[in-house]
Amino acid sequence: MNSPTIISNPAGLKTLFQAELNETYHSIYGAYQESKHVFITAGLNFFWQGEHPSSTSILEIGFGTGLNAMLSFLESEAHKKPITYHSYETLPLAYSLIQGLDYHHNWDVKDENYFKHMHTCAWDKTIHISDFFELVKINKSILHAVPEQLYHLIYFDAFAPNKQEEMWSEEVFTTLFNALNPGGVLVTYTAKGAVRRTLQSIGYVVERIDGPPGKRHMLRAIKPK
Ligand SMILES: C[S@@+](CC[C@H](N)C(=O)[O-])C[C@H]1O[C@@H](n2cnc3c(N)ncnc32)[C@H](O)[C@@H]1O
Repeated sequence: MNSPTIISNPAGLKTLFQAELNETYHSIYGAYQESKHVFITAGLNFFWQGEHPSSTSILEIGFGTGLNAMLSFLESEAHKKPITYHSYETLPLAYSLIQGLDYHHNWDVKDENYFKHMHTCAWDKTIHISDFFELVKINKSILHAVPEQLYHLIYFDAFAPNKQEEMWSEEVFTTLFNALNPGGVLVTYTAKGAVRRTLQSIGYVVERIDGPPGKRHMLRAIKPK
C-alpha cells in the first residue's frame, strides 16, 4: 500500500486518508477524541479499575499514527503505572507526515519529544521510552502471526470491516483470544453485529457500550477468568 495523505474535516480536524482503501485512519469527528474514548477510557482506564498488575501489557493492532501509543504513554506517566506496549504494523509512517496532523496541540511541548522518539526509534526492538513505558513496534502483519506472550489489553484498531474484511476474521480474533490473559480486555471502535457475534462465538464476553463522538456504540470484549 502507498503512504496515506492528510485530509481535514470542515472543523479543521485532520486525519490520514488511505486512497487504496478509500478509508481514513480515524473518525472525521476527531482522532484524539476517538482514541481517548475507545482505547483509553473504555480500555485502559476500565482495566485499571478492576486489575492492578505491577506492569500492564498492551497489544495494539495497527500502530499507524502512534496516537494510541502516545495516549497510553501519557496515562502511564500520569498514573505512574508501567506499561509495555507492543504494536503490529505493516506500513510504518514517517514522523514528518505525522507532524502534519498537529497532534502536538493535545500535549505539552516536552511530550512531543517522546512522541517523536516513538516514531523514529527502531522497529522490532524493545525501546525504553520512559521509566514507565516500553515500546516494541513489530513490523509484521497480524494475519497468521502468533504473539509470543500474554497481554492484559488489546487495542484492535484495524481499518473498518467493510474495507479490510480479513482483519476481522474468526482466525485473527482466536489468535488474539489466545494472546489475552484471563480477565484481559479487547476494545475496538466498531459495534458491527457480525463482529460481535464472531467474538462471542470464540468465547469473549462482549459488551456494546457508548461510542466516541459520531458513533453510537463500540465493543468491549473480555476473556473470562
Ligand atoms: C485504522 S488505522 C489505525 C492506526 C493507529 N492505531 C492510529 O491510531 O493511527 C489501521 C492500521 O492498521 C495497519 N494494518 C493494516 N493491515 C495490517 C496487518 N495485516 N497487520 C497489522 N497492521 C495492519 C494499517 O497500516 C494502519 O496503520
